[in-house]
Parts: sequence; C-alpha cells; structure tokens
Amino acid sequence: MSADYKPVSWTRSKAVYDSVMLVGIVLYLLAFLWIGPRLQSVTLPPDAPTMAMKAYGSCAFLMLTLVLCIGPLARLDTRFLPLLYNRRHLGVMTCAVAAGHLFAVLDWHFAYSPTPPLAALLGADTAFIPFGIFAFLVLLAMACTSHDFWLVFLGPPVWKALHMAVYAAYAAVVVHIGFGALQDARNPTLAIVVMLCTATVCALHLAAARREHRRDTSLATPAPEPPWLVAGRADDIAENRAIVVRPADGEAVAIFRHQGRLSAVSHVCAHQNGPLGEGRVVDGCITCPWHGYQYRLEDGTSPPPFTERIATYRLRLDGRLVLLDPRPNPPGTPVPPLELPA
Ligand code: HEM
Ligand code: FES
Repeated sequence: MSADYKPVSWTRSKAVYDSVMLVGIVLYLLAFLWIGPRLQSVTLPPDAPTMAMKAYGSCAFLMLTLVLCIGPLARLDTRFLPLLYNRRHLGVMTCAVAAGHLFAVLDWHFAYSPTPPLAALLGADTAFIPFGIFAFLVLLAMACTSHDFWLVFLGPPVWKALHMAVYAAYAAVVVHIGFGALQDARNPTLAIVVMLCTATVCALHLAAARREHRRDTSLATPAPEPPWLVAGRADDIAENRAIVVRPADGEAVAIFRHQGRLSAVSHVCAHQNGPLGEGRVVDGCITCPWHGYQYRLEDGTSPPPFTERIATYRLRLDGRLVLLDPRPNPPGTPVPPLELPA
C-alpha cells in the first residue's frame, strides 16, 4: 500500500464476476442467434445480419438496465453491494456489446448504400438513429474513462458527473427503440420487454429514494448542539459494514460497526479515492472495496509495514442515535471506538 506495495487490482471476486457476465452474454447471443430462428414459424426468417443487430441491440439494452438497477438494489439491500463494486466492468462490457450492434447495423442497413456505410449512417434521414448514436457515444466515453487513472486525473466530481450521463444514455436508448424498432407493431415482445425494463429501473430508484427519505425523516429529532450532527441509528449499521454520512459542508464520513463498537473515518480511500464506506471490516481492518487497502478502526492508519493514513472523526451516542462531529481529525489520529450499550 505504501511505496513498495504492488496493489493486486485483479481480485478473485472480479474474475468470478467477469466470467459470469461473459458466460451470460455468450449464452444470450447464442440463444438469440441459433435457437431463435428455429423457433420461428415464418416462411422467410430474418437474415443473419438482422438477427445479429437484434441480438446485440437487445443484449446491450438488458445489460444497461442491469447496470442502472444495481445502484438502487445495493441501497435497498447490502447483499447486492458486491455487484456494485464491479459495476464498471459491466459498463465496459455493455459498451462492447453495443459496438457489436453498431457493426451489425453498418453491415446490413447501410451495406447497399452507394455512400460509405459510416457516412450513410450519419446522414440517414431517420429520427431514431441520432438517439442511438448519442447513447453509444456516452457508453464509449464512460468505458474509456472507467479506469482509476481517469478518476484521479479528472477528479471525483467531474468523473461522477460524466458517469451520471448513463441515465441520459438510457433515456436515449428507450427513445431509439421507441421511434425505431417499435414502429413495427407486428411483434409485441420487444415493446413488453422495454416497458418492463423501464418500469423496473424507475420503480427501484423510487423505492430507494423513498427509503432514504423515510430514514431521514425518522431521524428528524431536535438538532444536537453544534458541531454534532445526527448520523443515523446505531441499529441500522450492519456488523462489519458502514453507513455513509455526507455533512452539508465537508467530506463524506463512513461509520463502521465492528464487535459492538463504532468507528468513523473518511469515506475516501487514500489510494485512489475509492468509496471506503462501501467496503467491509476484514480481519479487524476497514477494507476498501476497490483494491483492498486496509485501515485500522481505532486510528485510520494502514497496518504495518504500510503507512497510509486517513482522517478519523469523533462519535457519541444520544440514546440509540449516533452523533458525529464532522470536523476531521488529522489523518491517523487515534479515536477510541465508541462502545454500544448491549
Ligand atoms: C451508433 C449507435 C446506434 C445505431 C446506429 C443503431 C441503429 C439501430 C438500427 C438501424 C436499428 C433497427 C431499427 C428497426 O428495426 O427499425 C436498431 C435497433 C435497436 N437498437 Fe440500436 N443503434 C445504435 C445504438 C444502440 C444502443 C447503444 C443500444 C442499446 C444499449 C441499442 C439498442 C437497440 C435495440 C434494442 C434495437 C431493437 C432491436 C430489435 O429489433 O429487436 N442501439 N438500432
Ligand atoms: S484500495 Fe484503491 S481506491 Fe481504495
């Protein structure tokens, strides 16, 4: 973790996640391209490039739907957090599958145009294609900047703003399909799938927002004397996990629970700004979900021989409410963990 440390950025969980995703994508495409035509009882089944365009396009849409569902699912139930950690890999794969869709479109829809396929695509007089191009460019920009290097280079606020454009991309894909393929009213399956996916994304986001709102209003007690803030209820923090508190001015703080005691540290990892509060306590140390850097609960320093340090914070209890002093202590300052009454 310090200068001599070689971070292992390819963890077993990432390998398992990527393998499951890859197998899922291959199985979906095979099923669509190989089994699909055999199930059709039409005299002239669609040609191979059209099937490829449909297979890659629908696969990319389903993957994008999954990418957007993971965030609210993880907020509703911490068991989904492992999916959140590796979501960037899923985003890159979605872009690759969308590129497959684009190549299939170029291969067929514009193959017989007297102008070069790309020029014909860009000059096509259709309402839905610009929406698809916009969505693809957003996915490409996100995939190209997904590496941690770009997070450090652009800074977390810019990087996050760029990646929030995924919502605009999703809306653009829905319009792309609605103005394009759905104009062919012969097969309702695509319309049903698109409606179900869009409704699921909206419903999950609403449910997560409503839950957070309920939590915030249930914490609306008389404000404690400054500088203390109400951070949450001790009972809402799962063992070896954290809640993240974002003071109006100041850095986000992660409050971890471990063996009946609470400790508050910066939510921002000293390695590459990873979201520490989404990590867990492993072997008695806070462990970053991105590359596994570790910090001690009692002073925010990495265990020897490593030398990283993060800011610690003071906590106190008001009944079962946890109060936080949002002023950071200098990185590595010891703060005894707060004992919870039995
Ligand atoms: C460069 C960008 C894109 C171009 C040029 C493009 C082009 C097309 C074209 C020509 C169609 C056929 C429409 C029809 O049958 O009337 C289509 C359908 C479709 N596209 Fe795209 N598209 C692009 C990006 C995307 C992206 C990024 C996604 C998803 C993430 C997507 C998902 C779909 C889907 C699901 C269909 C319907 C397939 C079906 O008929 O079953 N497209 N696209
Ligand atoms: S371990 Fe790399 S960002 Fe935390």
